[in-house]
Formats: sequence, C-alpha cells, structure tokens
Amino acid sequence: MVGYLSPIFIPLMEQGNMAFQMPSIPRQASPNKSFSSSFQCSSFTRTEHGPTRWFPCRLGNQARWTRLGIRCCETTTTKMGRETRVHESFTTIESKPTLASVSKMQQDNTYFFLCNGEWSASSQGKLLKEYSPCDAQVCYTYQSCSNENADRCFHAAATAQASWAKTPLWKRAEYLKKAAKILVNYKDEISQCIVNEIAKNTRSALSEVVRTADLIEYVAEQGIRQSGELMYPDSFPGHVRNQLCLVHRVALGVVLCIPPFNYPINLCASKVAPALMMGNSVVIKAPSHGVISCLYLASAFHMAGIPRGVVNVVTGKGSELGDYLVSHPLVDAISFTGGTSTGKKVSTKAGMIPLQLELGGKDCAIVLEDADLQSSIRSIVSGAFSYNGQRCTAVKIVYVMEQVAEDLVNGLKEQVQKLSVGYPQDNADITPLVSQSSAEYIEKLFQDAIQKGAKQVVPWKRKDNLVWPSILDHVNQHMRVAWEEPFGPLLPIVRVESETQAIEMVNKSDMGLQASIFSSNMERAMSIADLLQTGTVHLNGQPARGPDHFPFQGWKDSGIGSQGVLYSLQAMSKVKSIVVHFTRETYTCN
Ligand code: G3H
Repeated sequence: MVGYLSPIFIPLMEQGNMAFQMPSIPRQASPNKSFSSSFQCSSFTRTEHGPTRWFPCRLGNQARWTRLGIRCCETTTTKMGRETRVHESFTTIESKPTLASVSKMQQDNTYFFLCNGEWSASSQGKLLKEYSPCDAQVCYTYQSCSNENADRCFHAAATAQASWAKTPLWKRAEYLKKAAKILVNYKDEISQCIVNEIAKNTRSALSEVVRTADLIEYVAEQGIRQSGELMYPDSFPGHVRNQLCLVHRVALGVVLCIPPFNYPINLCASKVAPALMMGNSVVIKAPSHGVISCLYLASAFHMAGIPRGVVNVVTGKGSELGDYLVSHPLVDAISFTGGTSTGKKVSTKAGMIPLQLELGGKDCAIVLEDADLQSSIRSIVSGAFSYNGQRCTAVKIVYVMEQVAEDLVNGLKEQVQKLSVGYPQDNADITPLVSQSSAEYIEKLFQDAIQKGAKQVVPWKRKDNLVWPSILDHVNQHMRVAWEEPFGPLLPIVRVESETQAIEMVNKSDMGLQASIFSSNMERAMSIADLLQTGTVHLNGQPARGPDHFPFQGWKDSGIGSQGVLYSLQAMSKVKSIVVHFTRETYTCN
C-alpha cells in the first residue's frame, strides 16, 4: 500500500521496524493539527528539530515525529472477549515533491531571492531570520539583498521587458493561467507557509491562495479581451473627418510591486498579474512578514516558465532597501500597499512616475435606527475581527444612532465573546498579531480611550502579541482611537444623535477608503453614501475589497488610483495614440 501519511500512523524505522521517536513536540512550537492535511514536508520543518525531512504526526493523543519515504504502520486494536488484538498495516509514505524543493527556491530551509530567472544568494552574504508570530521561533531564513542585488534585478527586468512586451497576449495569458494552476496544485503547502509566517488561520490562508489563483485567471481572461479605440476629429467643433486616431494601451516598463504582510500572496498577485498581462516586467519587494509566501508566488510564475527576468523578487529589510528601490532610475511605476505614512514617503521619493497606492483605512459602519440589527451585528463582527482586524478594510469604527446603541452594543458583545482565540493552525478566529509592536500600539490606543472616558464592553486581555477581541463604547472625538487605525481586534463605538453627526465625523478623517451603512431605507442610505468621502460605500454589508474584479480605491490619505482586475490592467498601462492624417475628408457611406 502506498499513500500519503495520515496523522494516525506510527513512524517505524525500516531497519527492523524499530519504533523511532523524535523528542516530544512542544505544543506551542508546533500545533499538530496543522499537519494533518498534507505532507509536503519541507514547508513544515522547524530547524530546531533537525533535518528538513522531519515533520510531526499524531497517534491518538500522542504527537511524534516522522519522515517521508519510510514504512509506517497503522495500528488498530480490536477487543475479542477478554483478548485485545493489535493489527498493524504497513504503508510506504511517498514524498509528494514540494514546490519549495521542485522550484529550488530554498536549500536547507534558507530561501533565495529571484533574479533573472535564478534563485540567488545575497551578494553581501547576509541572511535574515523570520520569526513566527505564534511562538517567536525562527520559521524561515532568507536573503538580505544588497543594493547591488537590487540593481541586478532591475537590469534583468528592464532587459526582459522589451521582449516580454512583444510576446503575444494569448501567450502571456497562458503563462498566467499556468501559474494559477501551480498555486492550486500546491495550495496546502503555500497556505501552510502563510499560516507560519503571519498567523492567518488555516481556513483563511487556504482561501487566500485559491482566491489568488482565481484572480490571476480572471486577469488573464480580461487581459486578452482588451481592445483599443478609434476616434474621428469631426465630433469636435470646427473639425472635419480628415484624421483617424487609434488609441490603445501599452506597458509602463518595469513595475516595482510592494505588497503588504496581510495578504502576501493575494495582494502581490493583484499587482503582478495585471502588470505582466499588460507587458510589464516586475521587481517585487517582498514584505518582511510574509516574505516566503511572496517567494512562493514568484516561484509559481517561475515554474510556469515565464521568461527569465520578467519576474524578480528582492528580499530584505524595507528600512535598508526601501529608499533605494523606490527611487531607482529603472523603475517606471510603483504599485504599493501598506501604511499611509510609508505610502506618502514612497510618493515623495518616487518622482514623476505612475503610482498605484493602497494605504490605510478608517472604515466605518454607520448603523441607523431602522437597521436590521442582527444582520448589522454579524457584518460588523466579521468586518472588524476577521484576521484580527489586520486588514485595511476592517471596520475600524462604528457610528450608531442613540436609539439603538444599547441593543447594538449588547449584540456585539454577545457575538464577540463567541470568537475563539488561539492558534491559526486550530482555525481560531483571533490569532497572534503579526508583531509585538502592533499589540503594544493597540494597547496604547485602548488605554488612551479608557483614560478619556470610554467604557470597555468586554474585558481587555493581552498576552504578548495575542490580543483578545475588544470593544470600546462611548468613544468620542477626543480619543486617539476615533481617528487612528488600530489594525488589530479593537472596535470603538461612537453613539451619535443624527446621521449628519456621523457623516461629519467620517469626512473629518484623513482617510477615505471604504464605509458601510446599515439601514432598511435604501433611499436614505444612498443619499448618505453620496455624502461620504470614501472610495467605496457598502450598503447593508461590511467593507471589503473583493470580489477582486470590483474597483477598489482609497480617497484622501487612503491611496492613489484604483485596483480591481480591469482597473489594475489600466493602471499598469499607459495610453498610446497614433493619428493618421488624410489629405482629404473621408466619410463612411452605405
Ligand atoms: O488590507 C487591505 C486589503 O486590501 C483588504 O482586503 O477586504 O479582501 O480583506 P480584503
């Protein structure tokens, strides 16, 4: 019998069937449930436990270490009267090659950066360690790229772009579709990496990978259906039909893509795929948290056979590399997602090139007295607390009409207390935040509000970077939490006397990403939506970017430009027109 390992197998050494056990697995270091679905081992390794091929498995309540390629046995016991019989059936565990090993993106759990189609080591010989948000142990080691490495990437990208732009559209689409398939084939391995790196729960990590494959396919489909425009001069006063203007879109050149930690695959692909489809080459600056997930995405394109130099990834600290990258003379456009302050620096340093910036948000939920409270509560809880509120579109403030405030707060409290708190591998709703400093920042916002008179609805609780979901009632505009983004599981509630008061507060914010309004009166909700200075307003639903073909744009300090399949294809290209001049007027006749 040959198969993949199921967690109930006991590992045995081939020689003499000796039971072989690794040291016991610390619960905190390796939550075992995460290993139960697929066994592409190298992504599961932890260096402190030895060679890369070991991974944990379970027998009943016992956790053990095993490895692929050995014979394992499943033990079942049957009771026959007083006698207990033990049955052993042997299985040879076959190693399904991992994407990490097939693509050669790593060796001994040390990951390379991608430059000109080759996985390379840093020229300064410097490595960086990435620490798991769950146990603060090293989960991956990667290259600290030098400026020289970045130069090589940009040069490779610039050279490759010239021929990539001449690659027929259908062929570019094929590469994209192939990459999407690879993501789906390795979705377990990749999502496990997301879990390890940023503590997103397994369910959401898996859905991020699948959503990304769908997004890439959609970009390919939309991209091949693009067409240009034909214009005549005689529609403009005083002109006759003696010219023909042919309008189409062309590549920008080399696009620097800077995705954030919270969607290391999806928000990287949402930049890379449209850029590639429009004939650009890309240099990705991987985020420090989520760096390996980002390399996985690049490896999908690499394995899809995309020509060398078209996709490159630099890794390293943003504080060391950032300025150099964004002001590099070979960069023709930048697509950045991240905090507002960094986004402003990017736009200052980048100079006169196209920018697509998706920055912070202070997304609100306005709850009117005629809202369906139960459904509003469900939307607000999901909107505020999915992935611990570490999303730019998370509900970050609630404005509720006095008349229904008490009921809303009680309902939110009840739902929030049901959220599970724990490990991402256990699919907990609330998991450790990406860093200790995020947790500290949130605690400061909380304390500032309490000192200024806010009321805590559920008890505040924090252990290191794990912050329990929290609600603050009676928040007012003198509190920091009314204006700043917690980017964590803290939800402030402001009780308002009128919708005008809510609109004023929303529009007073420096940010203008999304907003939501809950009301059973569509006409009223629509007129409020018109008055809100945000890129998108959701009526009776939580703020969200997706589906990924919807336009997504931040106003004010929340960004520049639009995203979403068609909008990103446009953002990743520029208009070119060719005007043909005739010596005489020409009109089409029947
Ligand atoms: O963090 C910013 C993301 O663009 C939010 O995306 O609405 O799909 O969670 P999401």
